[in-house]
Amino acid sequence: MNSSEVESSPAMARSFFLLYSLSRRRVSDSLRSLFFIPTALALTTSLFILFYISSTSNIFTSHLHHRNSRLHFLQNPIGVSLKTHANQPQSSLDFDSPVSDLGHTADHAGAAKPSPSSNGRGVEDENVFHDRDIFKEDYIKMNTTFKIFVYPHQRSDPFANVLLPVDFEPEGNYASESFFKKSLNNSHFITKDPSIADLFFLPFSIARLRHDPRIGIDGIQDFIKEYVFNISHKYPYWNRTGGADHFYVSCHSIGRVAINKADEVKRNAIQVVCSSSYFQSAYVPHKDASLPQIWPRIEDDPRNITSSQRKKLAFFAGSINSPVREKLLKTWQNNTQIYVHSGRLNTSYEASLLDSKFCFHVKGYAVNTARIGDALYHGCVPVIIANHYDLPFADILNWKSFSIIIATLDIPSLQRILNGISNDEYAKLQSNVLDVRKHFRWHSVPIDYDAFYMVMYELWLRRSSIRVPLS
Ligand SMILES: *[C@@H]1O[C@H](CO)[C@@H](O)[C@H](O)[C@H]1NC(C)=O
Ligand SMILES: *[C@@H]1O[C@H](CO)[C@@H](O)[C@H](O)[C@H]1NC(C)=O
Ligand SMILES: *[C@@H]1O[C@H](CO)[C@@H](O)[C@H](O)[C@H]1NC(C)=O
Ligand SMILES: *[C@@H]1O[C@H](CO)[C@@H](O)[C@H](O)[C@H]1NC(C)=O
Ligand SMILES: *[C@@H]1O[C@H](CO)[C@@H](O)[C@H](O)[C@H]1NC(C)=O
Ligand SMILES: *[C@@H]1O[C@H](CO)[C@@H](O)[C@H](O)[C@H]1NC(C)=O
Ligand SMILES: *[C@@H]1O[C@H](CO)[C@@H](O)[C@H](O)[C@H]1NC(C)=O
Repeated sequence: MNSSEVESSPAMARSFFLLYSLSRRRVSDSLRSLFFIPTALALTTSLFILFYISSTSNIFTSHLHHRNSRLHFLQNPIGVSLKTHANQPQSSLDFDSPVSDLGHTADHAGAAKPSPSSNGRGVEDENVFHDRDIFKEDYIKMNTTFKIFVYPHQRSDPFANVLLPVDFEPEGNYASESFFKKSLNNSHFITKDPSIADLFFLPFSIARLRHDPRIGIDGIQDFIKEYVFNISHKYPYWNRTGGADHFYVSCHSIGRVAINKADEVKRNAIQVVCSSSYFQSAYVPHKDASLPQIWPRIEDDPRNITSSQRKKLAFFAGSINSPVREKLLKTWQNNTQIYVHSGRLNTSYEASLLDSKFCFHVKGYAVNTARIGDALYHGCVPVIIANHYDLPFADILNWKSFSIIIATLDIPSLQRILNGISNDEYAKLQSNVLDVRKHFRWHSVPIDYDAFYMVMYELWLRRSSIRVPLS
């Protein structure tokens, strides 16, 4: 798999170059007499080679497919239309045992849809995946073969608090970072043998560095520079790829500048970050990956969540710390359907999330906040107003099937857009919200298809790199 892909691309390039230089030589030799024959021959041969490669290699099929999905997503940032994919093959839903919990389970769909449809078939045409079959197939491959080497550190290391997984249950706004490391430590992806590792994990915690009085915000950049210097001198792995098969994870937006003094980390390593804005030069969507920002909560009964009476059309609460939020507040502050609160609520935040059909996620200082996770958790359909946000798992999930994505420019049209969504369409969106909830949950010991496994899948998609053997 991995290695054959890596090898096939340089080999291809080499053969094309050979062909090209060959045909050039022949043309100059016999320019006067037979101009056409060699050129035509070369052309035909290259066409045959191209045909052969495209029909045998899967680098043009499954992987291109993922890119297409992403492209499709990026090209339609204002996804307010709710198309039903009526032509979708029904068979994509009838899949077998190991991944059966991936789909629309009967009680979810039954609870979500007020119309008669108890067997979960009511949502069959609104797939939350770009392609569930490809995801399923790749996931199993990933799950059985993917290996991660974590740079080892002792408990006695003065920075053990920063480098080792935390021994408590992570909480708060940036819990995703700690949860990832804890889940990874407790997963079967770990290998102690670097020679079989696909990727290498740089285990420093940006959040913990930030709060460590020895480092602090001002010291993070130097710490990371020194850390990379240390591992690139102690081990041979960094130098083989310039860090391209290495990754780090950060949820706080300070992670964006934390690597400013470690240029190779920024340029080559895979950055798994919550503040995944493709407007930022430090973030490259096909190289880096988006980490969902999730405020951890105890699992709730989804039936309770859908049966709640949602009296408000839409809701937002938070500090008005960005032009986008200012615009939202200015436009809708006196509206009777759309509730926009500046600052903390008097009433419970949870009650408002349960009381509204749509819940706003609006860009603040950065594109990311925990609000998407909050909305999904409470069965509220997220309305995302954060231009350039590379949404978590966008390679896998079709965000338009469970959220409304709106450009900042369209804030004045919010009421018309949201009122234009019929009850049936809303029921589908909400049912899909319940289906994707499991992908936005962390567990200290990870379980299939949770946030940890989804991030692993995103890493697996980005894993191939060419290693230069060092003699
Ligand atoms: C993934 O691997 C783990 C550990 O081997 C296993 O428990 C789990 O069932 C696997 N998941 C799937 C979908 O195959
Ligand atoms: C990390 O994994 C090791 C080995 O499986 C285990 O002994 C340790 O308790 C784990 N640490 C945490 C914080 O979960
Ligand atoms: C780098 O290595 C030196 C020497 O072992 C150590 O004192 C220092 O704490 C290390 N720095 C980091 C950031 O890991
Ligand atoms: C990696 O490269 C750096 C800079 O070229 C060099 O100083 C270092 O010794 C190399 N590391 C190893 C393990 O060879
Ligand atoms: C369901 O919601 C009601 C209030 O609407 C609450 O009293 C009850 O505890 C909830 N049940 C569960 C299982 O959360
Ligand atoms: C909302 O009401 C306040 C106070 O009545 C008023 O000052 C403001 O202009 C109104 N805003 C809009 C957008 O109508
Ligand atoms: C919020 O609380 C303050 C006092 O704590 C009260 O005066 C005000 O009416 C409350 N506002 C709402 C909307 O409940």
